[in-house]
Amino acid sequence: MTDQQRIGSDALRAKVMSADDAAAFITPGSTVGMSGFTGSGYPKAVPLALAARMDRAHAAGDRFRVKVWTGASTGPELDGALAQADGVEFRLPYNSDPIAREKINRGEMEYFDMHLSQVAPMAWQGFLGPLDTAVVEISGIRPDGGLIPSSSVGNNKTWLDRAEKVILEVNRWQNPALEGMHDIYYGTALPPNRKPIPLVRADDRIGEPYFRCDPSKIVAIVETDSPDRNLPFAKPDAAALGIAGHLLEFFRHEVKKGRLPAELLPLQSGVGNVANAVLTGLLDGPFENMTAYTEVIQDGMLDLLAAGKLRMASATAFSLSPEAATRINAEMASFRDKMILRPQEISNHPEVIRRLGCLAMNGLIEADIYGNVNSTHVMGSRIQNGIGGSGDFARNAYVSIFMTPSTAKGGKISAIVPQASHVDHITQDVQVIVTEQGLADLRGLSPKQRAEVIIANCAHPNYRPMLEDYYRRARQGSYGQQSPCLPGEALSWHQRFIETGSMLP
Ligand code: COA
Repeated sequence: MTDQQRIGSDALRAKVMSADDAAAFITPGSTVGMSGFTGSGYPKAVPLALAARMDRAHAAGDRFRVKVWTGASTGPELDGALAQADGVEFRLPYNSDPIAREKINRGEMEYFDMHLSQVAPMAWQGFLGPLDTAVVEISGIRPDGGLIPSSSVGNNKTWLDRAEKVILEVNRWQNPALEGMHDIYYGTALPPNRKPIPLVRADDRIGEPYFRCDPSKIVAIVETDSPDRNLPFAKPDAAALGIAGHLLEFFRHEVKKGRLPAELLPLQSGVGNVANAVLTGLLDGPFENMTAYTEVIQDGMLDLLAAGKLRMASATAFSLSPEAATRINAEMASFRDKMILRPQEISNHPEVIRRLGCLAMNGLIEADIYGNVNSTHVMGSRIQNGIGGSGDFARNAYVSIFMTPSTAKGGKISAIVPQASHVDHITQDVQVIVTEQGLADLRGLSPKQRAEVIIANCAHPNYRPMLEDYYRRARQGSYGQQSPCLPGEALSWHQRFIETGSMLP
């Protein structure tokens, strides 16, 4: 495809300029809504140019920081570069960049970690303040001015609608065959005018394939040719394979009991290595004709699609390794009809997730013996990534599953603790916990019944006796017996880790 075809509108082609010139439209203190979701479809040139401007301003003794909103995580050219330049005063809704993470944990950057389905509605409700500039990567512009989305949709529709100024990056690296894969729904409204989302099957299309954008708002177009972040996934280790095995057995059992159909229900799979390993495990499972209604399409899902096990996948973005990105680019024409990318307010919409009955599978940092789950904070205070879409799915799923290796950091940390040091998912939103040790089916159980199953099935043998001992003493000495607890001791494992580097005595 020629550059002329990439930007099919003559009027818009006249707005092509350098990234430096485009970045000059962004002013200190302003709010910038950028594209990008799990390392795909984020702008790659303007943020770098902006970071360079910030460096120059800071060297001259001037303050230049902005507030940055995105879909979710991005790449080093955006989050990494802006954090390195000390250019972000406020960030939402998700971050996994290591430089930005350090700044947040040092208290040098404010971070509002929020449910991903709520970002666009909150922006429309006016709760987040005005949006000055949108910087959005697209894969092309049609002659009629329609914008062809790239490898993530995220909050782009909302940024394009809400921003006063729009800067577009047209990325030649993105496959032209992406055109037609997206489903951009324009039917959302604010209460009291909200209507049901008319999506009753994972493969329903309810919108249009392009973004609309008022051309008079487009102040700059920058041409790029840069790959998405595309980090490799870790090869599934014994723990990940063990978790996948327990989960497959659970699904088989549920089908046998008649609580799940033979093709299962739409799968949701979270971010990270463990979630990806579980999908890979499904390749060898007996389930055919599956569907996915999820947030990201990662390597494991691509393998399931290619093998014909997964009939279709609906998401808001790709989250692929470099090898999988190469593969999908080569075979886009055949994958395109099996995939739909939607705005994240639709991919993660509680109403739709509840209606479809998704099987939610997400990672966790730690769970306590009652099944409260911490997805975000290490030792109660250090942010790892963010809640992402895990809350959108966990609360509304048909079965809400959380999975993790039973220990972290070489065994020095137990993923099952007396009390979670931070809670993202309350016990009512957590129905199954799986570690390589086993699976705890918590549906219909009281807190004490849950504790017994979680300790017996999920805890690592090095920590199980310690949990049994704590629980036994809590049964004797607790102020109440609904959820027995020894407040003075419940977080002592975390304190020990902070003091000695291990939760083990
Ligand atoms: N204490 C300290 N660190 C922990 C930990 C614990 N209890 N549990 C995990 N970690 C660390 C790991 O050591 C690893 O650190 P490293 O990168 O320095 O090696 C990192 O967290 C990732 O853990 P890993 O075991 O590789 O699992 P993962 O890649 O599956 O990620 C989460 C697990 C919880 C971090 C990840 O799933 C997440 O961010 N979840 C929240 C968002 C979410 O669920 N999104 C999906 C919604 S659609």
